[in-house]
Amino acid sequence: MTKLIKNGTVVSATGQHAADVLVDGETIAAVLLPGTDAAIAAEAGAEQIIDATGKYVVPGGIDAHTHMELPFGGTNASDTFETGSRAAAWGGTTTIIDFAVQRYGENVRDSLDEWFAKAEGECAVDYAFHMILGGVDDAALKEMDTLVAEGITSFKLFMAYPGVFYSDDGQILRAMQKASNNGALISMHAENGIAIDVLAEQHAARGETDPIYHGLSRPSLLEGEATHRAIQLALVAGAPVYFVHLSASEALEAVAAARNDGHNVFAETCPQYLYLNLEDHLGAPGFEGAKYVCSSPLRTKHHTHQKDLWQGLRTNDLSIVATDHCPFCMKDQKELGLEDFRAIPNGIGGVEHRMDLIYQGVVMGELTLERWVETCSTTPARMFGLYPQKGVIAPGSDADIVLYDPAAKTNISVDTHHMNMDYSAYEGFEVDGKVDTVMSKGKIIISADGYHGAKGDGNYLKRGLSTYLH
Ligand code: URP
Ligand code: ZN
Ligand code: ZN
Repeated sequence: MTKLIKNGTVVSATGQHAADVLVDGETIAAVLLPGTDAAIAAEAGAEQIIDATGKYVVPGGIDAHTHMELPFGGTNASDTFETGSRAAAWGGTTTIIDFAVQRYGENVRDSLDEWFAKAEGECAVDYAFHMILGGVDDAALKEMDTLVAEGITSFKLFMAYPGVFYSDDGQILRAMQKASNNGALISMHAENGIAIDVLAEQHAARGETDPIYHGLSRPSLLEGEATHRAIQLALVAGAPVYFVHLSASEALEAVAAARNDGHNVFAETCPQYLYLNLEDHLGAPGFEGAKYVCSSPLRTKHHTHQKDLWQGLRTNDLSIVATDHCPFCMKDQKELGLEDFRAIPNGIGGVEHRMDLIYQGVVMGELTLERWVETCSTTPARMFGLYPQKGVIAPGSDADIVLYDPAAKTNISVDTHHMNMDYSAYEGFEVDGKVDTVMSKGKIIISADGYHGAKGDGNYLKRGLSTYLH
């Protein structure tokens, strides 16, 4: 079936122009200048015309950091692949890259197979996997080669969570050496977990058990220190490194310095670090702050963290905005830590709101429209080996397309969101702009009438190597 999206403004990472987009089946057939013979012929032949007057026509969002059904903190992340990927679609995200998890002592292959089984036939949008290595040993190192050949080309390591996911510096170095040989990208959770556990225990021993102590036991200096250390290990190994959920100015400084020296060092940040803070959110009265417990934690408002992060997005020291979607309900999940912040499952859900929240950066004058598209779609595709199948509106690419209405508004609330969460971290946010129509591989899955997709619409994506490595 052919569809023509006409009268819209097509926005890419490099520019914006009036164009008609012809979709044939699952892919984009042509991007046409309006009024040309080719555009007139395409309109005459199209089986469906979609009017995008007043709308931006952008490549579907790619959320490179989600945790559907993650077993963590004594419970499971509350979105399944079905509910979480559908919520992603509502928010204009047409690809998710989720983290399959190998825990210490487990076999990498078995763990990955578990993730394939969880996602198979469930997703509303296309999906791919990174692999978390919770135990870097000889067997895991060997599996890294096999996985790269099979399209899992990035591996997350943790400098935090001793006894759960933690890798020591030797393990990190060995995995990085492997990545420097096989072309993989190492993603790093950079927080000094050994020091954090000491601080957390000291707070708890003093009876300081409220959610805010989660943040106070994870100082930004310890994110900066771990980021700097991981960069040195990557340089020794000759490997690229990508920092996930970067939240602190100190960490950004380390990334920027390495990039200025020409190294393959990259980072993402997340909407929560751009909009929420330690005092107002993590420090909210009573147990409310539990809603905002995530790691890296929200940072103090009495510092320039948020301003620096927006600037990092402009300068490309931060290349990507992902959500680190790791939702837990308050009831029975966050409540596990009512008596002790250390037992609150770490994570915030937001897969549905990333495109809107970062578009808000355009409205506020922090980012250009092109940079919105670049950080939310094009760069994730390039960084994680999905380009040009994803991340661009161009002939031959998948027809993952969002019509975005800058004149409409989005009210974010637990009452209207589609994530399986009993609260919204962004409750009451009224933002300019709204996802109007979402097409996934040529099928309209979201329109003004609602959701038209089905579970199983989304396919597994085998990824190539990052195109950013040199
Ligand atoms: O708090 C977070 N970020 N939970 C998810 C796990 C991780 O470290 O990304
Ligand atoms: Zn992490
Ligand atoms: Zn995460």
